[in-house]
Amino acid sequence: MILELSDVQSGYGKITILHGVSMSVARGEIVTVLGPNGAGKSTLMKAIAGHLPTSEGKIDLDGVRIDGSGASKAAAAGVGYVPQERNVFEELSVIENLRVTANAAREAMNTIDAMFEKFPFLKERKNQRADTLSGGERQILAISAALAGRPRVLLLDEPTSGLAPLFVQDIVDWIADVAEEGTAVVWVVEQSPETILRVSDRTYVMDGGQISREIPSSELLDPEELRKVFLGDQREGHQDGA
Ligand SMILES: Nc1ncnc2c1ncn2[C@@H]1O[C@H](COP(=O)(O)OP(=O)(O)OP(=O)(O)O)[C@@H](O)[C@H]1O
Ligand SMILES: [Mg+2]
Repeated sequence: MILELSDVQSGYGKITILHGVSMSVARGEIVTVLGPNGAGKSTLMKAIAGHLPTSEGKIDLDGVRIDGSGASKAAAAGVGYVPQERNVFEELSVIENLRVTANAAREAMNTIDAMFEKFPFLKERKNQRADTLSGGERQILAISAALAGRPRVLLLDEPTSGLAPLFVQDIVDWIADVAEEGTAVVWVVEQSPETILRVSDRTYVMDGGQISREIPSSELLDPEELRKVFLGDQREGHQDGA
């Protein structure tokens, strides 16, 4: 397992939001994280990316502890992170956004060239400010920037929410290729998750700051199972404790 969390507690100041989260992700695996609003999904991503300190437990990347070392060290260790909000530097140009993470990485220019080939608008508009891009284009830039750092683990916090289905499919195919090349992907998924679940191996369901279930993603292609996940356990009579 390249990423391993054991009993991680984290939150904001004195407020604990994550109450002992354990999970693991293998190289080349796509793991999805689902759960109702406020379940703690974004808090979990922030804790792994080093944007929040942990108060208990540990986070290992390839056997090396990364918790407590901060965001830049987590990034240098190989964590790529696409936050749910404000995930590009709006006042910087497209190419500057890509270079922010790429600077430290070997072969970065090859990676950027490959992205230009895949998404020509990035090249055509490379000198334009990021805030002139559409919502979907911005998400592609945010993911490209995270990948330009050649991460070993890629954390995606709902980068497809609000995007047109064709755009979502492009991103899903792209991330599937990224995983195939060996990157471990943790993908927080919100609406219309079926396209993403189809390329995902396992799903962790979060509720109330804990993992309430771990299931093969294919089981969630059943709409009834999926409905339960988004409603949360409390409205289901606590049937699934495990
Ligand atoms: N900066 C913050 N300060 C204090 N509490 C916060 C902060 N950010 C989030 N929270 C709280 O942490 C809890 C979990 O929030 P989080 O954003 O992790 O949920 P989420 O599962 O990502 O939800 P969503 O599906 O709406 O994105 C919520 O109760 C939220 O109010
Ligand atoms: Mg969130």
